[in-house]
Amino acid sequence: MKKVLIDCDPGIDDALALALAAGSRDALDLVGVTTVGGNVDLPLTTANALALREFLDLGDVPVTPGSAGALLRHTVRADHVHGASGLGAVVLPAPVREPSEGHAVDFIVDALRAAPGEITLVAVGPLTNLALAVRREPRIVEWARDLVIMGGSYTRGNHNPAAEFNMLADPEAAAIVFGAGWTVTMIGLDVTLTAVVNAAVLDRMRPLGRLAELLVTGAQSYMAVTAEGGPAIHDACAVAYTLDPSLFTCVPAVVDVETAGLYTRGMTVVDFDLAGREPNALVATSLDVPGFWDLVIGAYERLAARLR
Ligand code: RIB
Ligand code: CA
Repeated sequence: MKKVLIDCDPGIDDALALALAAGSRDALDLVGVTTVGGNVDLPLTTANALALREFLDLGDVPVTPGSAGALLRHTVRADHVHGASGLGAVVLPAPVREPSEGHAVDFIVDALRAAPGEITLVAVGPLTNLALAVRREPRIVEWARDLVIMGGSYTRGNHNPAAEFNMLADPEAAAIVFGAGWTVTMIGLDVTLTAVVNAAVLDRMRPLGRLAELLVTGAQSYMAVTAEGGPAIHDACAVAYTLDPSLFTCVPAVVDVETAGLYTRGMTVVDFDLAGREPNALVATSLDVPGFWDLVIGAYERLAARLR
């Protein structure tokens, strides 16, 4: 059983990533969910995480809120993509339980200190909480079993031609995380944009009862679904990596994050030519898309059987 801690900004694809984790209880021990301001403001990402914990039958997994905004400069949001609530047209039952006391940064540090070498951090939002955790306790780079992020790109951005949203939302935090001394597994747009919910995939989600309300409505809120295309469930790719890294090809690289460029702020500058330097990242360059959907739909089917 692999222990994972998911830092997120739900967010429709964050929700589908949490659903993948919830349907993979045989393989993943979700030790905690931490939230960050990102797609929408922190109160909403946290409320969405709390509602998802109960809707997805995640039991007593602690949900701990973290940073509301970026470390230094203007915060960008993606409510134009994820809707004002952060979950598009998805309406979940209001959560009964409250978030945990304390701050996400302390939760992350304390969890890693208590289980050195055991917990994989999965970050699928802006990296503000992780950057502050590194500054609070630099030894977490040794204590973490792995760090997998959904973010960046070695080709083009999505929020603008240069920058992927999670990196753009807090470039200084991303620079701190990539420079902290661990090896970041970067699941970027280059592969996540191939993880598309098209009509055939949506048809595999439709029979999943109550869970389909989240999956189908969420996907259709994210982007129009057609036979040829639809929304990419970016964040689920990071969780899929923890479940089956063989679905991905990852290449060692040196990754720097632009924090000053007028047009390139938030760009992940990925150099696959190490030229004798130690890599600070493993960058995903390919995804077995059919294998990804078999993994994801299989997890959703197991979860749906539990939720009925
Ligand atoms: O660029 C995709 C990323 O930005 C995903 O994490 C999505 O949830 C948004 O946060
Ligand atoms: Ca996200």
